[in-house]
This record gives sequence, structure tokens and C-alpha cells, in this order.
Amino acid sequence: MSPSQKPADQTPRERTNFDGGWAFFPGDAGGAEAPDFDDADWREVDLPHDWSIEGTVSEANPSGAKGGYFPCGVGWYRKRFDAPAAWDGKKLFVEFDGVFCNSDVWINGHHLGHRPNGYVSFQHDLTEHLNVDGANVLAVRVDNSRQPNSRWYTGSGIYRHVRLTVTHPVYAAHWGVCITTPEVSPEAATVAVRTTIRNETSSAKVIELRSTVLDPTGQPVGAATERREIPPNGEHTYEQTIEVPRPALWSPEMPSLYALRSEVTDGGTTVDAQDTCFGIRVVLFDAARGMLLNGWPVKMKGVCEHHDAGCVGAAVPDAVLARRLRILKRMGCNAIRTAHNPPSPALLDLCDRMGMLVIDEGFDEWKVAKTPHGYSTVFEKWWHRDLTDWILRDRNHPCVVLWSIGNEIREQCDSAGVETGRKIVDAIHRLEPTRPVTCGLNWHADADTWIAEVLDVVGINGGGGGCFQYENYHRDNPTWKLYASEVPHTLQTRGVYQTVTHYRNEDLGGGILKTPSLAEPEALGQIHPRYRSAYDNAYVRINCRDSWAQTSKHDFFAGEFRWSGFDYLGESLGWPCKNWNFGIIDLCGFPKDSYYFYQSRWTPRPMVHILPHWTWPGKEGTAIPVVAYSNCEQVELFLNGTSLGRKATADRMDLTWHVPYAPGILKAVGSVDGQAVAATERVTAGDPAGIALSVDRETIDADGADAVHVQVEIVDAGGHVAPHADDRVHFTVTGPGRLIGVDNGDPIDHDNYKLDHRKAFSGMCLAIVQSTGQPGTIRLAAAAEGLASAEIAVAAGR
Ligand code: GAL
Repeated sequence: MSPSQKPADQTPRERTNFDGGWAFFPGDAGGAEAPDFDDADWREVDLPHDWSIEGTVSEANPSGAKGGYFPCGVGWYRKRFDAPAAWDGKKLFVEFDGVFCNSDVWINGHHLGHRPNGYVSFQHDLTEHLNVDGANVLAVRVDNSRQPNSRWYTGSGIYRHVRLTVTHPVYAAHWGVCITTPEVSPEAATVAVRTTIRNETSSAKVIELRSTVLDPTGQPVGAATERREIPPNGEHTYEQTIEVPRPALWSPEMPSLYALRSEVTDGGTTVDAQDTCFGIRVVLFDAARGMLLNGWPVKMKGVCEHHDAGCVGAAVPDAVLARRLRILKRMGCNAIRTAHNPPSPALLDLCDRMGMLVIDEGFDEWKVAKTPHGYSTVFEKWWHRDLTDWILRDRNHPCVVLWSIGNEIREQCDSAGVETGRKIVDAIHRLEPTRPVTCGLNWHADADTWIAEVLDVVGINGGGGGCFQYENYHRDNPTWKLYASEVPHTLQTRGVYQTVTHYRNEDLGGGILKTPSLAEPEALGQIHPRYRSAYDNAYVRINCRDSWAQTSKHDFFAGEFRWSGFDYLGESLGWPCKNWNFGIIDLCGFPKDSYYFYQSRWTPRPMVHILPHWTWPGKEGTAIPVVAYSNCEQVELFLNGTSLGRKATADRMDLTWHVPYAPGILKAVGSVDGQAVAATERVTAGDPAGIALSVDRETIDADGADAVHVQVEIVDAGGHVAPHADDRVHFTVTGPGRLIGVDNGDPIDHDNYKLDHRKAFSGMCLAIVQSTGQPGTIRLAAAAEGLASAEIAVAAGR
């Protein structure tokens, strides 16, 4: 039998998606764990589900500015399912990828467990209380009522996937396969496998484990077999090594993936089989050369990301995650720091497949609180269990290059905190010795002790002024392996511009958090203070530029992670803002201008971007600073065909012209060796006349989970985006699709995300449509008063 075929006796292990058909109640429902509880009037929902995002923001909600003013509270879920007679004698498990938070789970009224942490994955064994050949009820109570418990938006509910696993009583333990690649060369790689097999029968069994490596095309390229007696109700960890000739190495550019097929046989019968994805790569951190991936220095060009995705909240369909990664990759980003918690397994699967390095982070607080009801309240009791489950779950992902034990931990500079840090580092080393351990640090200035001392790799957060001291750190601590875990912090709102006077870094006191005074002269008029956006010599560019100048200059520096990639909900400056717009991409996934700054530094394909837009009625004659980001040698700017001069990008990383405003076409042409290789234009738009729709994918899976993003632009009669347009767009979906969220990226728009209409913001908005499970054509029609309407079609197929 070829290992790429299914084992002969079919499916010894069934792993079923358990997301569909849950009943949900938004409140506390005493006794709802009882199997005969009447839930007839509960709402039916599919997972992932986040009830907070369904609610409407209000200044009165206890989540406050930190939680983005979304409602939280308690919620219940129940799911009925029949257990077929064929499950008699089998093991049955339910696996939750993440429930926020304080979950309690019951099967048929029997309590299975409590889990405070909202980000770790966990599994419960249902076997003992299952009604085989009968009806069963799984009940989950979720308690997110104690607020605030986080510094950012968390979401509430069973917001990640759930699976049901059925196995033979002799089976590979949950997260029981561990794959490492201790030796890698172009000729061969050694794949080391440790597999824990359980025998939950009452007799000893001689169990054979065959582990086969399948190459990226699915062909077997090496295998190992071992037989071993396992005592009744016992377990054994098999240790095997497999040589793989001429391995295809994993990297962000070539994310080659292998699979390990584990087949468990008892007397010739296959009793368990599963495939585990892994990659072959070598990651090293070096105090002089930064990060070495497969022997080559690779600078991490990273972003910090929270786990929500705007209008879908924390219940993020995989398709939304995939689009986000595509947007980041187009910017040249090669790394994500999962701020400040373990991510969803779905995100790590995508990072493996699409080629994105990951710093996998565990905690934002240890014993010393940042929020009244945060993780510090359970740290002592739960940290080791949470950490163990987190590491075991994520250890086979080739994308994960560092474990991060925290972010700006309050006790990082006192001796008790350093001891806690040492304990956590040691625990990780014991569980998973192959990856180094880091932490995002600040508050180090005059401390006698600092957890940097116990880390393998030191992450510097810019918030403490550490951003420009890399040389000092390196000089004073030449053995430290360094990177910037969080720089720079900049506020911008897509499409909103103000000019400020000329700031240089010295004007900002050398720090990076000072904001320009909003009383500065504004060439382009008054704007709402929450819509901070800056250009010309303002701090946004200075910080991005100076930070990258430092990171790129030093070989010893492994890279930087900017705060943040996408805007995220919560951590707001205060009402009426529901988010703090630190991202270089807005909540809809629409890039802001600084996105293109990074693209110009991080990608080789010739590009040029200019800002601002060129629709400023009433500003005729006003000198507007026009900024270009480009990776070309030179950029020439033209207004209505007249050259305004050619400038060399050289080391400046950006270029500025002061252009007296006149309507028309502002065009920038980038050149290399005197040849034009890239161009972009901004065209003055007339009055809004219609709607233009575009989609990120033309075909999606008719699986009830896949989703398409529809980008909505308000355009003039010539099809140019009207950058000031704020028309309200109404959506109608027909065919096998449902609208799951609308947004416009505006931090102070309080409209509910689940409505079927949204105002445009800076000329754009977004609708996300999910398939319903039926194949067919999904149509989305968009209409706004006084504008020509539009429709777009997407095929939902199998
Ligand atoms: C950092 C912190 C992040 C976020 C950011 C906002 O210091 O680590 O979680 O709060 O500030 O500026």
C-alpha cells in the first residue's frame, strides 16, 4: 500500500468539523447544561461566533475604551448530536480552538471542565458520558462578564473552530506527535519524530507505529516502523528518525510543506492514522548576524497583529485571515507577532502554507495586573497548563520561529518578575527545546535587573524610547540577540489628511510617541481630532523611516515588528473612538499611505505611491505637500502633464514636492537607469455618480465557511474614486450567500457591523459575504441614493 493512499480499513480516526448548528442564548441560562433544557427559542448559529461584534458600541458598556465599547456578558451554547451505534467502544473527543472566556463545558449534563484562558485550545473527553446509539447534548457556558479583562477587543463566545474526533481506544494522543528536524543539509535532513500512543483497553497490546514522510507532492520519501508492547490503560512515546534526501526547505518565499503520516496497527489492523504537516528548515539567531534561515541572514519585516478582523470581530473566517496575509505579503511583510496571545490554529496553518514567519506569543500579563480582571487573576493557577497546551499545539508549525513569553510585562524589572520569567523560559525549553524564547520588553532604563537576562532573544518595544538605542544595547550586551518587537507607533486614518509644520526627530524629543499638536496650521482644513493622519514631515513618516533606517542598518538586528499591521478594535483613545488607529491598513483591509512606505522598502518590484489624493475643491492655489514612496532610483512628478521635477530617492526613503493645487491629474513616474518602470496617478474626482464593486476572489467554496470580500468605491462619472464621499450604501445578497459584516474603517462610526448598509468613508466601504453551503451564483447588489447602483457575482462551487 502506498502511504499516500488511505489505509485499507478506511477511517480509523474521524475528525469532523463541529461548527454547524449550535443553539445560542445571549445571557445566563440557569440549568442549560441539563440535556432536557428547553432551548427551542434560542437562536441557531454556526461557529466561529462572537456575540460582542453583533452588538452595538455604547459608551456605557463596561468593556470601555479598552474593549472598544462593545457589549460582553455571559452567553450559552448548546449542540445536539446523535452518536451512531458504530461509535460503541470508541473514544470521542471535542476540541475547541478558542473560547473567550471562562468556559465551562458539559456533555449530557456532566461537567467536563472549566477554562479561564480565552486563547488557548483545549480538548475534552466525552466517551464516558456519551449516549451511544442515542441523542446527546453538548452545552457550553461562556463568561466574559468581568470587565475590563483585556487591553484590547477580545470578542465573546466560541469564536474559533470546534471539532469532534472519534478514535479507536488505541490512538495517538492529542498533540501527541512532535516533529523536529535536528540536522538539515542540502543533501539530507533528519526528521526526528516522537509520538505518544495510548492504549485505553484493558489488555496489553503490541502496537506498531509506522511513520512515513510524504514530500510536498504527496510522495513517500522515508519511513520508520517500531513495535512495542503498551500496557493496559498505558501509553508509550515512540522515538523515530527518518532520513529525507534532498529536502525542499521551508522559507517565506518557498513554503514547502511535508506531511508525516502516522499509522498505528494492532495485529495487522490499522487502528489509527493521521497526517501532521511540518516543514524542514533551520532557524538560528546570532548576536552578530541577526536571524539566519537555512543559513542565510533574513531580516524580519514584521507586523504585530491582534486577533480580531474588524467587522467579523474575533470570529474570523479562514478566508478573511487568508486575505489579510495576502495583503501583508504584497507589502513585503514576512513576519507576524501574534500580539499578545496564542493565535488561532487556522492562522498558523495559513502562515505555514503561505510563507509567513511567526512570533507566537503567550501572555500580556503575568502576576502584576494591567487590567482589573485580566490574566493576572488566574496566572498562578493556570500559566503552566496554558503554556503547555499552547506549546504542544503549535510546536510542529514551521512558520513559528520564536516563542514569546510576554509583552511589556509589568514585573519585568524586579527580581520576582525575573524569576517568573526564568520559570516560564525553562518550562518552554523543557517542552520544546528547538526554538528560542523571547519577550517584548520595555521599562529597562535604569533597572538593576531585567528579564532580558533570562531570554534567548531580546525583543525591544519602542514605546519605552528603546527604538533608537539598538547600537547601545549591542555594544553593552554583545551576546544578546536583538530585534524590535514593537516599533514604531503611528496613528493614521485612511484618506484623511492634515498638514503639520516640519517635524524632525529632534522636535519629537527623540521619542516616538509625541503627536503633533492639532493646533498646527492645516493647509487642508479642520478635521476631527480622532481622524489623525499626517504627512509631509510629520511624525508618521519620520517614525517609520527612522525605525527602518535603524533596523536595516545593523546586521546584528534581526528585524522589526511595527505596531500594528491592521487596525484593531479596542484600545481606543476614548469615546467616540472604538479603536486606536495604529495600523497601516484599516479595519477593512484597505491600505493607508504608510503601507506603501513599507512596500517601497520591503519589495523589489518597481512601485511608486503618492499622497494625498488630488480632489481639493476650494483649495486652488494652496501649496499642498505631495509625498512619494518608491523603490525606484528617481521619481518625477507631473501635474496635468507638466513636470514638477525629478528627485532621487537615495537614502531619504521618501520625496516631497510642494504643489499649488489645481484640479487634474497628478502623476508620478519612477525610473531606474533613466527608464520609466513604475507610475501612479491621482485624478481629481467630480461629484459622486455611481458605485464600483470589486472582489478579492471570483470563486469561493460552497462550504458554508468560505467568504468573499467586496470592495465598494463611490466613483464619479469617469470612474474615479470620490475621496470625500460618504454615501450610505445598501446591500442585497441573493443566491447561496449571506452578508456577515460591513465596515468602512472609520474609527468613530458606531453603526452596527451586521446591518445591510454602511456609509462610505473616504470614498470606500467593504462587505463580506459568506457561502451558505449550496453551490450557485452569489450576487451582491449595492445601491445608494442618487447614485447609479452596481452588482457583482461570485461563483460558489464545490
Ligand atoms: C505598546 C503595547 C501594545 C499597544 C501599543 C499601543 O506599548 O505593547 O500592546 O498597547 O503600545 O501604543
